[in-house]
Amino acid sequence: MTVTVRSFAKINLGLYIGLPRADGFHDLRTVYQTIALHDVIRVQVARGTGIEIECSDPRVPRDESNTCWRIAERVMRELGASGKVTIGIEKKLPVQGGLGAGSSNAVATMLALERALKKSLPGAARLRVASEVGSDLPLFLIGGTALGVGRGEEVYPVPDLPATPLVVVTPAVGVSTPRAFADWDRLTRSGASDRLLEVGRVLSAWLSGSPNTGASAGGRSRAGSLLSDLVRTGIENDFERVVFPQYPELRDMKCALERAGAGYASLSGSGSTLYGLFRTRAAAVKAAGRLRKQGLKAVATTTLTRQQYWKRFLVSGC
Ligand code: C5P
Repeated sequence: MTVTVRSFAKINLGLYIGLPRADGFHDLRTVYQTIALHDVIRVQVARGTGIEIECSDPRVPRDESNTCWRIAERVMRELGASGKVTIGIEKKLPVQGGLGAGSSNAVATMLALERALKKSLPGAARLRVASEVGSDLPLFLIGGTALGVGRGEEVYPVPDLPATPLVVVTPAVGVSTPRAFADWDRLTRSGASDRLLEVGRVLSAWLSGSPNTGASAGGRSRAGSLLSDLVRTGIENDFERVVFPQYPELRDMKCALERAGAGYASLSGSGSTLYGLFRTRAAAVKAAGRLRKQGLKAVATTTLTRQQYWKRFLVSGC
């Protein structure tokens, strides 16, 4: 039996980096938001042993360095299961794009593999295994809008932001996350820790006080109020300060998104992907068309609430 699932991407609505920790990771604060763009993952368990990755994209490793391979190996061990695991990755999301594609692929593999084996890990074990494989994995066990703290692996579901139209621009370059963190260290050196406390207040005020967490407020569209909240609160992605000087074309793409009408535009994660949020689907579609005419790889999509994320997750497999 083959289990097929959608492996959705995420964007970061703000990302604040703290000081490097003793384990080499950085403390951070971010709001993760899942979006409708996705890869497709197919998992099959047959007689035999071993793990095989099938993917036609040459940029995706097919050995044990692949996050899907690493999580499958752990899930088989945790469940005491045996068999030959084949993981098919239909790649549509960018590699090294800041959309969490590799992390999302791994979580999709874990859940599809459990289903194929007709066994499941307890929730706490899933979170532990996911965070062992990478900081960005646990968010995909929650979906929708989630606050990320610690090294990003400690995730808390927060009231979902409304489904919001957006345009995603994928540049040709990829950005290395470890290198972007190292560049951040060289840029800052001190003061980041105190700053995170302040940022925590900003993010929680935004998330708890926002009128977007409920129904429309005062006649404003819900997407509209989300945008003005983000702009008013001045929520930013720290990675822009190290990635834009290195890749000036990415700053130009953010400006192009703003010129095309985005109410809020930002780098996602450490990039290279940029996104812009729009008030309406029609405005996002029009902007994506305009950006494509300028030679950019742009696509209109939407953010996914937690309910939409889980409703669309399973494609097939009993
Ligand atoms: O956890 P993940 O495998 O995605 O991290 C990749 C690399 O990014 C880490 O080895 C580390 O260098 C850097 N990183 C960091 N602080 C974080 C997350 C990642 O320094 N919070």
